[in-house]
Amino acid sequence: MNILILGSGGREHALAWAVLQNPKCDRLIVAPGNAGIDQIAECASLDVENPSTVCEFCSENSIDFIIVGPEAPLAAGVVDMLKDAGFLVFGPTQAAAQLEASKSFTKEICDAAKAPTAAWARFTEADPAKAYIRQTGAPIVVKADGLAAGKGVVVAMDEETAIRAIDDMFDGAFGRAGAEVVIEDFMDGEEASFFVLSDGTNVLPIGTAQDHKRAFDGDDGPNTGGMGAYSPAPVMSPAIQQQTLDQIIKPTMDEMARRGTPFEGVLFAGLMIEDGQARLVEYNVRFGDPECQALMMRLGAQALDLMLACAEGRLDQARVNWADDHALTVVLATRGYPGAYEKGSVINGLDTLPETSSQMVFHAGTTAKGGHITATGGRVLAVTARGASLKEARDQAYAMVGQIDWPEGFCRKDIGWRAL
Ligand code: GLY
Repeated sequence: MNILILGSGGREHALAWAVLQNPKCDRLIVAPGNAGIDQIAECASLDVENPSTVCEFCSENSIDFIIVGPEAPLAAGVVDMLKDAGFLVFGPTQAAAQLEASKSFTKEICDAAKAPTAAWARFTEADPAKAYIRQTGAPIVVKADGLAAGKGVVVAMDEETAIRAIDDMFDGAFGRAGAEVVIEDFMDGEEASFFVLSDGTNVLPIGTAQDHKRAFDGDDGPNTGGMGAYSPAPVMSPAIQQQTLDQIIKPTMDEMARRGTPFEGVLFAGLMIEDGQARLVEYNVRFGDPECQALMMRLGAQALDLMLACAEGRLDQARVNWADDHALTVVLATRGYPGAYEKGSVINGLDTLPETSSQMVFHAGTTAKGGHITATGGRVLAVTARGASLKEARDQAYAMVGQIDWPEGFCRKDIGWRAL
């Protein structure tokens, strides 16, 4: 079958790598892709947030199956138009993608589904939002309602920070995404990511992971898109997974179906675990990045079968064949990220690293130029390894990192610290 993956990050490189291991894939195109993806698949330049452009491309290239990586094309309605045109697609419709695209929508769904989450309020003006903060006190969480590339959440440990976040959001720091804000109670505990597939009726858990959101060792520094991840996450015990399914995910799916907007695709629940109970922090309607890199390394070729079963509405017949293994990914980012950074530095040493079913360097912000790989993004590489234990996966990943010669890059040295 001819497959198209939309996206250009480490997540899409990992998806492409897993899909190519499955003999069902005859031809793989990734749009727009990156320098690493270009080494294993065809890359095509395409405006992936324009539904009609994507549809035309799929017709012209006889695409049989489309996998949508990032949230922006989902929120733009790419899946809706592809489905209307008769294509088989992995990803939720625009209405179902509201679970990520609007924080207040998710909170309303949680209320209707009685899913455990933090108490909340929504505001469209600064003054009542500030009054609410003063009345509730800190710590408190301020979120821009819309999509803000992972930057629209401020966990304020004091009232001043929360008030400043309100000013920033209503002053347009996140554009239209900040025209409405959600203020939530602060939740304490350990964060974890839980991934399930849903075909609108059936729900199939496909793995757990833990991300490292802060830029520096010891969970210090500013929030990023994620500086490393590992799978599975030991904090997600079988009992907590079951509670999450029973109290959070299934009631959410039922509520979405009841509203006539069933969720189909991968649902990524960001959870806070405290005293053996999970509460929902947020939903994402796509694979996490870099969690996906660790998940794909564990799932391998079966990832395509699972995504096909999801898109074809037969998840009730699908099974995940888990090996008793662990995967860990270390993100290398350009110095300065998540703030301003220089583009164009050369990365050496990548060609000396073997790429196998248990070690891969997935590319994100890279470009091939003059025979070199150059860094053109904030997060640039996701060095990923699999092992019989988390320690083995970690040691292997850091051994690979040690062979990469890139003075302008940095990484955290403590990925996996909680589990280890
Ligand atoms: N790593 C977090 C995310 O993908 O949203």
